[in-house]
Amino acid sequence: MAVIGIESSAHTFGVGIADSGRVLANEKEMYRIGTRGMIPNEVAEFHIGNAGTVMARAIEKAGISKSEITGVGYTRGPGMGPCLQVGQLSAKILAKRLRVPIVPVNHGVGHIEAARLFGGLDDPIALYVSGGNSQILKLDARPFTHYRVLGETFDIGVGNMLDTFAREVGLDPAWGSTVDRLAQSGKRYVELPYSVKGMDFSFTGLMTKATTIAHTLSREDLCFSLEQTAFSMLCETTERALLLTNSDEVCVCGGVAQSPKLREMIGSMARSHGARFGYAPDEFNADNGGMIALVAEEMLEKRLSVPLGRCDIEQRYRIESAQVVR
Ligand code: FE2
Repeated sequence: MAVIGIESSAHTFGVGIADSGRVLANEKEMYRIGTRGMIPNEVAEFHIGNAGTVMARAIEKAGISKSEITGVGYTRGPGMGPCLQVGQLSAKILAKRLRVPIVPVNHGVGHIEAARLFGGLDDPIALYVSGGNSQILKLDARPFTHYRVLGETFDIGVGNMLDTFAREVGLDPAWGSTVDRLAQSGKRYVELPYSVKGMDFSFTGLMTKATTIAHTLSREDLCFSLEQTAFSMLCETTERALLLTNSDEVCVCGGVAQSPKLREMIGSMARSHGARFGYAPDEFNADNGGMIALVAEEMLEKRLSVPLGRCDIEQRYRIESAQVVR
């Protein structure tokens, strides 16, 4: 079965096509944020303008015809309402025209599933780190199969922290990846607020302090210290979750998982406990439709489609309320 997955929760409109757990196409267009941040209605307009082209490109790349599409999945949430609505409507129109089943997908489940499949893992502890999310998760069977949140940020996501810091101190976009690049040349570590409580963590104090002392350090040393502190917090809490649950696999996923430094730190921690470590290629850590197609295919195989009239969106769709197929 060829299943099409549509992602539109934030700045990316993505369309992926999956067949038997393989991604045949993963096309996208990304709204350029600039210095104004994301204004939901403007981003939604961008998605409306690009939906048709991205979908056509994905179908062409996959080398299939529309008649070969056997199901449709779309991101139900979490995300920005107007943006989610564009993906939801595109998916509903396609499913109605092709008379195929449709299924709503949780965005975070998509990221974890991509890391699990590409990393060759079975049941990993997942460190899910992006702009809006920073969570440590593990599959749980009760009361239904879902990801249980073992730890998460008390305030903002680590990606949001890196981006806001970079904007505040005048670094070029793309902010978070610029911090990552500059950090590689940093040599001197300066102590910054390290805030961990059990398996939860907090990033705003760290961000405020780093921004306040920005004029006293070289950019490289500041980025190095900031990243080292934030990633060590994630490392410590993920290690605690790994040991507490007696797990033997770890994955990292989401936008910040594109950082080689974070992957190196989490991978090294996992291996020190004899656990296997995996992650997805960068195109699946950034927002994309391929991961939605992968999850949708699994859900449709288990006949978890939803009637068109009940295909809604949920801006605050918590990952633990999403049923996971395994
Ligand atoms: Fe994402």
